[in-house]
Amino acid sequence: MSDPSMIPPPAAIFRLVSGMWAAQAVATAARLGIPDQLAHGPRTAGEIATALRADPSAVYRLLRGVASVGVLSTEADGRFALTPVGECLRSDVPGSMRSLIIAEMAPGHWLPWGNLEHSVRTGKPAAPGALGMDVWEYYKQNADEGFLFAEAMSGMSTMAMQAVLASYSFSGARKVVDVGGSHGAFVAAVLQRETTATGVLFDRPEVVEGAGATLQAAGVAHRVERVAGDFFQSVPAGGDVYLLKHILHDWSDDECVQILGRVRDAMTPDARVVVAEMLIDDKGPPSPAPLLDLNMLVMLSGRERTAQEFGGLFASAGLKLHGVTPTHSPVAVLEARRG
Ligand SMILES: C[S@@+](CC[C@H](N)C(=O)[O-])C[C@H]1O[C@@H](n2cnc3c(N)ncnc32)[C@H](O)[C@@H]1O
Repeated sequence: MSDPSMIPPPAAIFRLVSGMWAAQAVATAARLGIPDQLAHGPRTAGEIATALRADPSAVYRLLRGVASVGVLSTEADGRFALTPVGECLRSDVPGSMRSLIIAEMAPGHWLPWGNLEHSVRTGKPAAPGALGMDVWEYYKQNADEGFLFAEAMSGMSTMAMQAVLASYSFSGARKVVDVGGSHGAFVAAVLQRETTATGVLFDRPEVVEGAGATLQAAGVAHRVERVAGDFFQSVPAGGDVYLLKHILHDWSDDECVQILGRVRDAMTPDARVVVAEMLIDDKGPPSPAPLLDLNMLVMLSGRERTAQEFGGLFASAGLKLHGVTPTHSPVAVLEARRG
């Protein structure tokens, strides 16, 4: 029954409901460090429960549930092992997705999603009502969850980077400014390839402060200046490449034009603005973009956009869309320059 159209319609609805249970179960296993415990080989539920000092029966039920969705496998002797999907949830693998699933299932996202209806009725994000503040302030005040979110962005970037770098060339880049670059996974990947270029990682103060380990691990820390600030005020000047990955989708059209205006103020005359986003394309292959768009609706003032809509934003900011490069991932690269 792998073809969804073969599933009886009521069962398809039940499968959607169980998707919520699965996501929380996998996030809980990740938060408890279970994939790390299985990194060196299969273990019994009892061994894991002892290590966690958790209820043995409940740990067994969690492992069984998580195995039922392909994150773990069960050995003939009953021990649990990591599948390739489970391997991605180890904390020590490059491009780990552990932080992503934990952050997306944590209160900062979980509580606003509980009130999607508010967003649909009003067109406004549910996050401020659910969290008592906007999500960036929430992450500042809840630093552990904020750090996880930034690490989650690194996982997302690593997932998309191979495809972006395979399709789009940063050749000739001299000074690459990653605007809202989180912990810098994107700029690090570009600098690993463009070995004579330098980088500027620009984000909110509490975010750039936490970026050291990512840049060190990528071997580019000595070539990246970390700058804290607010991209509605100004953006570091003098870059010839301005990266904006998953930035514009967070914001309304007016806010995007403001951010792009600050980039335009800062860039050298020959600079390019490189925007990496999922595109809404009704004629394209199935894509996570429509659901990511709902995440923007519930969390922020932004939205996912068509290539044409991005072209309109660039034009309003005095920039011109020069090209759209699809990649072998849901992320496309849009390049803009001064008009
Ligand atoms: C969705 S994340 C994208 C991170 C990164 N570009 C990536 O794709 O992995 C948005 C980023 O924008 C940053 N951000 C939000 N408001 C900002 C502001 N006013 N000035 C600078 N950065 C901001 C957040 O801290 C966060 O790192």
